[in-house]
Amino acid sequence: GMDGSPLAKGINPEEQEEFFIDILDKEEALSTLSITVVGASGDLAKKKIFPALFALYYEDCLPKNFIVFGYARSKLTDEELRNIISTTLTCRIDKRENCKDKMEQFLKRCFYHSGEYNSEENFAELDSKLKKKEAGKLSNRLFYLSIPPNIFVDVVRCASMKASSAYGWTRVIVEKPFGRDSESSAELTRCLKKYLTEDQIFRIDHYLGKELVENLSVLRFSNLIFEPLWSRNYIRNVQFIFSEDFGTEGRGGYFDNYGIIRDIMQNHLLQILALFAMETPVSLDAEDVRNEKVKVLRSMKPLELEDVIIGQYKGHNKGGRAYPGYTDDSTVPKNSITPTFAAAALFINNARWDGVPFLMKAGKALHRKRAEIRVQFRHVPGNLYKRNFGTDLDKATNELVLRVQPDEAIYLKINNKVPGLGMRLDRSDLNLLYRARYPTEIPDAYERLLLDAIAGERRLFIRSDELDAAWSLFTPLLKELEAKKIAPELYPYGSRGPVGAHYLAAKYNVRWG
Ligand code: NDP
Ligand code: BG6
Repeated sequence: GMDGSPLAKGINPEEQEEFFIDILDKEEALSTLSITVVGASGDLAKKKIFPALFALYYEDCLPKNFIVFGYARSKLTDEELRNIISTTLTCRIDKRENCKDKMEQFLKRCFYHSGEYNSEENFAELDSKLKKKEAGKLSNRLFYLSIPPNIFVDVVRCASMKASSAYGWTRVIVEKPFGRDSESSAELTRCLKKYLTEDQIFRIDHYLGKELVENLSVLRFSNLIFEPLWSRNYIRNVQFIFSEDFGTEGRGGYFDNYGIIRDIMQNHLLQILALFAMETPVSLDAEDVRNEKVKVLRSMKPLELEDVIIGQYKGHNKGGRAYPGYTDDSTVPKNSITPTFAAAALFINNARWDGVPFLMKAGKALHRKRAEIRVQFRHVPGNLYKRNFGTDLDKATNELVLRVQPDEAIYLKINNKVPGLGMRLDRSDLNLLYRARYPTEIPDAYERLLLDAIAGERRLFIRSDELDAAWSLFTPLLKELEAKKIAPELYPYGSRGPVGAHYLAAKYNVRWG
């Protein structure tokens, strides 16, 4: 009851705070966070998850008692796991510092259990190992499913039945792909919910953990000068661009079953679009933000086949080097028509965005690596300086660019007088280059997301109705592309992609930035 609380005793606020900190410390001393990386022998675990956990440990973001377990079928000892992951841990936070000691302390907290993904018995063994290492009774358990999607449900079944925390929370981070269309995604959700509540499921989209994607809301809602322009009245079009300068080498088996639309557009780019276009949420609470995102997604106009173009890269010789085509990969069928490039024009049927083209472009094996949001503004009505631009007025419109990666930046293209006695205008950038403005290194997306999952913060994870809305938009298109066996336009490895993307943009009077 209230009687024993400091409030009832009339303690002053400072003492009250100490009292609570005291309780928290005691609680922390008696509780353990255990993180089990399922699929620990795999690529993502090694490349992203263990390094992110180490970075969090390095930054003192993990609770006092934490342990990390790797789980997979491969037969490894604790030592062998430690050797594997130690090769990818980095001292990114302070490169001058030798963080060998910290690494060793971290690795001491890492263990391994070998088991099958569908064996309740093997998960029960994991449970007893966890219990032995957990200090006190209270344990919070986080499972990270870094495995192929066909075994998600097996693992969730076994883990929830045999290795859930008895005192404390149990949460599961699920990696994409979340199905490959509306039906399979709904089926996955249904199966997961047999064992877990929606609150326990953390569907990850690592683009939401990227610094500039998180900043999108800050830019919009904490600056007076952007939000008033954020509508069809001032914005001519918006572009979401993703490109990589390498192909699907090594991941062809996975990729061929999905293609670029499922791999990048339906999730990463659409998530960014939702954040870009949503109305102001009631608050920054996870449910408020996700409610707004769902609303935008549900307001989108169905995607038409004629508003989409697809491509696939072919082999190419450049600078004396031979670059392989998509179908040269031994894990890809020779006659595959899976797109490795796609461009699409999307529209939002609401008062704010009616008629504004939202263009997406995503591709592998292109000439450069970048992820950007580009906002092209309308012409200045009755522009006094029309004649000073020459004939191409399109080149004189303002453009706001958020460069998500690499070399994070936000810049605004403005028209400016070239200094001198004449009256000549040119376009210059107001440039916020992160590297120049912020000396500390930007954390990896997985660090932010793991930290949020540990804290129970769901804002950057995908709720099931959001996922449904995203699939509803893309599923009919994907089915039509597949039923009609639409052949992708071939483009050379390392090029700018198929010209079809330019015609698609031109149809809406847009030029790609
Ligand atoms: P891997 O293919 O490396 O698989 C992870 C582990 O799962 C393997 O080490 C293997 O462990 C086990 N495994 C692999 N194939 C099978 C199978 N057919 N049946 C049972 N077990 C299998 O995957 P990644 O690490 O690359 O990715 C993990 C998850 O993360 C996937 O869902 C992927 O889509 C997603 N993802 C990956 C990204 C990446 O960059 N790699 C990026 C974004 C998402 P063992 O044999 O020891 O049991
Ligand atoms: C993954 C895709 O989700 O994102 C990959 O499956 C892609 O195909 C990757 O390469 C890109 O992520 P990032 O963070 O390197 O831009």
